[in-house]
Amino acid sequence: MTNFLAYDDVTDLNALIQEGLNAKQNPFADQALGHNKTIGLIFFNSSLRTRMSTQKAAQNLGMNVIMMNVGQDSWGLEMEEGTVMNGDKAEHVKEAAAVVGKYCDIVAVRAFAGLKDREQDYREVVMNQFKKYAGVPIINLESATRHPLQSLADCITIEEFKVRKRPKIVLTWLPHFKPLPQAVANSFCEWINHTDAEFVVTHPEGYDLAPEFVGNARVSYNQNEAFEGADFIYGKNWSSYQHYGQVLTQDPSWMVTMDKMRLTDNGKFMHCLPVRRNMKVTDEVLDSPQSLVIEQAANREWSAQAVLKGVLQSL
Ligand code: CP
Repeated sequence: MTNFLAYDDVTDLNALIQEGLNAKQNPFADQALGHNKTIGLIFFNSSLRTRMSTQKAAQNLGMNVIMMNVGQDSWGLEMEEGTVMNGDKAEHVKEAAAVVGKYCDIVAVRAFAGLKDREQDYREVVMNQFKKYAGVPIINLESATRHPLQSLADCITIEEFKVRKRPKIVLTWLPHFKPLPQAVANSFCEWINHTDAEFVVTHPEGYDLAPEFVGNARVSYNQNEAFEGADFIYGKNWSSYQHYGQVLTQDPSWMVTMDKMRLTDNGKFMHCLPVRRNMKVTDEVLDSPQSLVIEQAANREWSAQAVLKGVLQSL
């Protein structure tokens, strides 16, 4: 694996899930692999899980870690080519990525969607500029359209908790008052579409995700109908793709409650976190044995470790 930007960079999903499970069983088995190697973790946005789990995974593999918050620890970075840099961005990504690539053997980047310009967000400008100029492998720590390390952790979690070979998995939109990116939902669709599952995506009208991510998933605008018999309920808010970045509704009836979980087949509740309690999902669900959110977050370490191992082996 030379880069990890999207599902397309994975050659064998089942093997990668197994790598994650192996790392969980024996975290320090590959300590020598990262000896004298450095990873740079570059954050344009806030993070708890991604930041700590990726650092921990790198350390489990014997790597050195350098972390930087762009615009706080460093100069603001210009991404577009050929611009007159007379604004607030003091450095161009051409130099910045190239310099970071001289200090680091692997560069991992988090840069969310701006949610103003769909075409620009879906061009993945930040990831692609780092890929173009860093000269070393790039790992996606959540980009404008995808969050593949989260999706791998989700696949590991589903593998651990599924009770049938072909589970029913439901991705449900949840209410929120401000616009959030589609990245987690897009990525979850992209990855689950490559697993053996009955996959349903449910959301209010106007919240359809980009067709290239929805793929063969069944789409339902009826959340109760979608939940029936489900093994896994994956909750996430996203803003509209069609009316790009807009909040079209905050309908509280889409919040996940215990009554809705009773429609499932003793289904498990999943969310990537952070989650706003009693707005997206009730305390009762989150604090119940049906919630997997902590197990899911814990698996972020093993998903990062499986990917880092693959990238280190390619150096
Ligand atoms: N799920 C996730 O990516 O969490 P953070 O934003 O805290 O990293």
